[in-house]
Amino acid sequence: MATERTFSIIKPDATRRNLTGKVNAVLEGAGLRIVAQKRIWMTTQQAETFYGVHKERPFFRDLVTFMTSGPVVVQVLEGDNAVAKNREVMGATNPANAAEGTIRKLFAESIEANSVHGSDSPENAATEIAYFFAGTEIVG
Ligand code: CMP
Repeated sequence: MATERTFSIIKPDATRRNLTGKVNAVLEGAGLRIVAQKRIWMTTQQAETFYGVHKERPFFRDLVTFMTSGPVVVQVLEGDNAVAKNREVMGATNPANAAEGTIRKLFAESIEANSVHGSDSPENAATEIAYFFAGTEIVG
C-alpha cells in the first residue's frame, strides 16, 4: 500500500481544552505520522476560503466564526492509506454517531465543535496541505 498524506486540523474546542497531545496520541496510535504541524489563529478570510465548498450551507457563517474563535493546530499526517485511516480514527462528523474510541467520540462537544477536521480525498488533501504548508515545512 502506498504511503499517502492527509491534512488535519485540531479545532478550537480541542486546543481550548488543552487536548492537542491527547488527539495526537490517538493519531499516532493509529499509525499516522505527524510530518508537519503548527499552531495558528485562522483569519476569517482563511476560514472562508478553506471551507468555501460549504459556503451555501446554513451552518457556514457559524462554522467560520467557530474556526476563528481560538487557535487551531494544522497538521500533515503521513501513512499507509492516510486519508481513509484518519477519517476512520476521527469518527463521524456528528459525535453522536461516532464509533467508540474515535477522536470525536472521545473529545467532540457537538457537530460543529467536533475537535478535528480531516481531508475527504487524496485530491482535497493535496489542496488543503498546500493552502497551509510550504513543501519545506513538511519533513517525512
Ligand atoms: P469538518 O469535517 O471540518 O467539515 C465541515 C464542518 O462543518 C464539520 O467538520 C463541522 O465542524 C461543521 N458543521 C457544523 N454543522 C454541520 C452540519 N450540520 N453538517 C456537517 N458539518 C457541520
